[in-house]
Amino acid sequence: MGPRVTTRPKSRARTGDALPWRLDCHMPAGADAVATDELRRALTARRPWIPPRWFYDDAGCALFVRITGLAAYYQTRTEQALLDAAMDDIVATHRPAELVEVGSGTAQKTRAILDAMERAGSLTRYLPFDISPGAVAVSAADISAAYPGTRVHGVAGDFSRHLARIPRCPAGTRRMVAFLGGTIGNLGPSRRRTLVRRLARLLKPGDSLVMGTDLAHDPRVLVRAYDDPEGVTAAFSRNMIHHVNAAFAGNADPDAFAHVALWNARASRVEMHLRARRDITWNLAGLGIVVPVEAGATIRTEISCKFTRGSVEALYADAGLALDSWHEDPLSRYAVSVATPA
Ligand code: SAH
Ligand code: TRP
Repeated sequence: MGPRVTTRPKSRARTGDALPWRLDCHMPAGADAVATDELRRALTARRPWIPPRWFYDDAGCALFVRITGLAAYYQTRTEQALLDAAMDDIVATHRPAELVEVGSGTAQKTRAILDAMERAGSLTRYLPFDISPGAVAVSAADISAAYPGTRVHGVAGDFSRHLARIPRCPAGTRRMVAFLGGTIGNLGPSRRRTLVRRLARLLKPGDSLVMGTDLAHDPRVLVRAYDDPEGVTAAFSRNMIHHVNAAFAGNADPDAFAHVALWNARASRVEMHLRARRDITWNLAGLGIVVPVEAGATIRTEISCKFTRGSVEALYADAGLALDSWHEDPLSRYAVSVATPA
């Protein structure tokens, strides 16, 4: 377990003792031992890969925000429109008092959920959870300022390890857990089953889970969303090399790699790779390894699995949840679904 640090902002709310927001951090400042071991194993595997957490340093987070605004990346605006259209009804049905958001990032689309809860008069607390302590701190401060009557309790942690650290929901009140952005698709079948089971453990009867999933459709549209003409996703991908170099005194030139996105129909997923443009000897002094990458060889960086209504229902069923409502856009590209303990 990483160190646990609780940060409270210095300025107190004007009224009384209530602090505007707090942050529990279960992530260490640098790369922790778990992440370091994982990276060493990944880079020395027979087919080398880089774990996706290496996307998200400060530069990577900024590039991701740019991805969410790209014309080719239809996912963000589609999910936003679905939330805008459906959240009042969803909140009326489930009447949540608090919102836990897993992989909250900059918590932009979250506002559609919080606004609906505020209109229903039920909003008391927001708990953003993300692996990036900086992202949690910024979003906690933003949301706290935008929703002054709402308590905000951020948790920086890894959703594969720290979900149980999320504070309990007060007895007699209902919780909604949100997992947006299609992030569930970034996990392969067995890891995502484990994660949805863990999300289900955050719910008691009466609580609800709202999840965004990208759907399997035209492969050309899907691949373009991960290889945009502006090259922002390519920059996001190559930034991983920078990030790993910076953390472990590495010497690889990010520009020696090309970004590749392809559709794997059998696994119903988009795959992203970095392909060596020439022979590269990647010396990572801080990891004590040298990774030889031959010209044309690829390093996998991310998968983004695409779903059907049936595959989402099966995922819920495996976790003891039942699909409560399903909201998809007119082009059937993206779905927001709500599930409850069965
Ligand atoms: N929900 C936002 C962000 C999606 S990007 C949106 O829909 O736009 C995925 C987010 O998940 C990032 O903010 C990233 O930091 C976070 N994340 C990735 N892996 C994580 C992990 N293992 N534990 C917790 N958060 C993680
Ligand atoms: N969850 C997002 C998705 O799979 C994350 C994402 C968008 C992403 N674009 C990316 C991850 C490019 C890696 C590279 O759609």
